[in-house]
Amino acid sequence: MENLGEGFNGNNHSIIGTSQAIKRIYELSAKVSHCSSTVLIMGESGTGKELVAKNIHYNSNRAEKPFVPVNCGAIPSELLESELFGHEKGAFTGAVALRIGRFELADSGTIFLDEIGEMPAILQVKLLRVIQERSFERIGGTKTVNVDVRIIAATNRNLEEAVAEGRFREDLFYRLNVIPIEIPPLRERLEDMPRLCDFFVEKHAKRFGRSRIVFSEDAMKIFGNYAWPGNVRELENTIERLLVLKENDIVTPFDLPERMTGRRIPELPEIGDDDANPFIGGIDMNAALEEYERRLILHALEMHNGVKSQAARYLNINRTTLIEKMKRLILP
Ligand SMILES: Nc1ncnc2c1ncn2[C@@H]1O[C@H](COP(=O)(O)OP(=O)(O)O)[C@@H](O)[C@H]1O
Ligand SMILES: [Mg+2]
Repeated sequence: MENLGEGFNGNNHSIIGTSQAIKRIYELSAKVSHCSSTVLIMGESGTGKELVAKNIHYNSNRAEKPFVPVNCGAIPSELLESELFGHEKGAFTGAVALRIGRFELADSGTIFLDEIGEMPAILQVKLLRVIQERSFERIGGTKTVNVDVRIIAATNRNLEEAVAEGRFREDLFYRLNVIPIEIPPLRERLEDMPRLCDFFVEKHAKRFGRSRIVFSEDAMKIFGNYAWPGNVRELENTIERLLVLKENDIVTPFDLPERMTGRRIPELPEIGDDDANPFIGGIDMNAALEEYERRLILHALEMHNGVKSQAARYLNINRTTLIEKMKRLILP
């Protein structure tokens, strides 16, 4: 794969993409790697916030030290304080031993505070102090612990809105928002799609020891029209699934999940006794299928003002197939 300058240092946290937004992000990441300023990464779920955080850490002079992620939204709030700051033995019922928190574990390295918008109010105060003084006490402790930690926070929510609604401390927001990095959703940077597809096909084909898949033009068109609510993570999962399931190497719209293609099978015509052949009994399946095919074709032609190529595309068949069928069904 040729190097288009994505990411840097060739580590495995490269940020792939050719859009202006992504170029700006990896330039910014490279710049902020050299300092220890606090970074706030904003973006929808799956846009690559953790990837950007790791990219910054592993390109910084802290790379040999720990990168410690904490998902503030996934840890129950009663446990989050002890998770972050640790506790002394006997600090509370159940605190049978001393526990070192994530801030201490991240000493000399980077702490990644994911979903920072979910942090409970009491912890927001404690975090503010850590940012200002780089010191705290373990729960139940009196000794002040000093740490040298780089803080990278991430959120998929609009923090300014949370501030306006009084759910997030304004002073904390400004302390975190020193270097803001905003990652746009995938649907707003479709130029990144081809490179990302290549990247994930390469990555997972190698892992599964199988040949690479390629995407037909129509399949790429569908990728381009889809909203990708799960962003790059959803793209990666889709490609991984195709690599597992597909036996041949060409991906067509029919291989894609229905939520992407919007393809549907219309209601079947009612099956009634009128269709029964009175001489043999039962239903004449061939005649029924032919009738159904004929109605679908007429419907598609009507929808597209009789333009055969468009009707064929709508039906997901070739134009020549459509013409053959029309001849067979004696359609105008
Ligand atoms: N620009 C990108 N280049 C390469 N991989 C990416 C990119 N953006 C996201 N990914 C991959 O997509 C997945 C989800 O990214 P992640 O950083 O966990 O998203 P978020 O933290 O925003 O939910 C990860 O496997 C990540 O490596
Ligand atoms: Mg994440």
